[in-house]
Amino acid sequence: MESYLERLKSDHLRMRRILLQLDRDLQLSQEPDADLGEAMTQVVNALCFIAGYPEQWHHPLEDLLFRRLLEIDAPCAKSVEQLLDEHESMALQTGFLLQRFEQALQSREPPDSLLISESHAYFRIQTEHQRREADNVFPVMAAFLDSSDWRRAERTLLATPSEASLCRYYQHLYQSTVNREPPGYRQVK
Ligand SMILES: [Fe+2]
Ligand SMILES: [Fe+2]
Repeated sequence: MESYLERLKSDHLRMRRILLQLDRDLQLSQEPDADLGEAMTQVVNALCFIAGYPEQWHHPLEDLLFRRLLEIDAPCAKSVEQLLDEHESMALQTGFLLQRFEQALQSREPPDSLLISESHAYFRIQTEHQRREADNVFPVMAAFLDSSDWRRAERTLLATPSEASLCRYYQHLYQSTVNREPPGYRQVK
């Protein structure tokens, strides 16, 4: 059981690092002497990571565990229902932003102020979503779910893309987004 909670928390840490890097790249893209192609490539990579790995593994697992909390009437139903809704809306937002930044990358036009403000809102929504999960729901999962619930989670985990090349692809995307060292960037391990 602990290992699944720890994996969900580790995912949050990775997503947080990706989001922070995305925010830095957006700031960089606004500077007059910015390498716009490089900044937009990194933003697209960050959004590809969020659209891929969390959507294919993290959210399906949370959906299963959250729905089980609703079934057993655990004391966080309102938070859980909102978080489930946000999984759908955040996936749409990620796809929308990815499309917009891919266009910016192709056109080599700096992102306009509307896209920047939508990206900041996205950053806030993602980080606040994860904070509510960690503070309000993960402790309830630890207290209320039993071994059969975690075994079902394990079956879901095994059914989702764990194929080695796919894992390597997302690992590479993560490392190349977060752990790079161009001038002005702080390396994050
Ligand atoms: Fe979530
Ligand atoms: Fe989460």
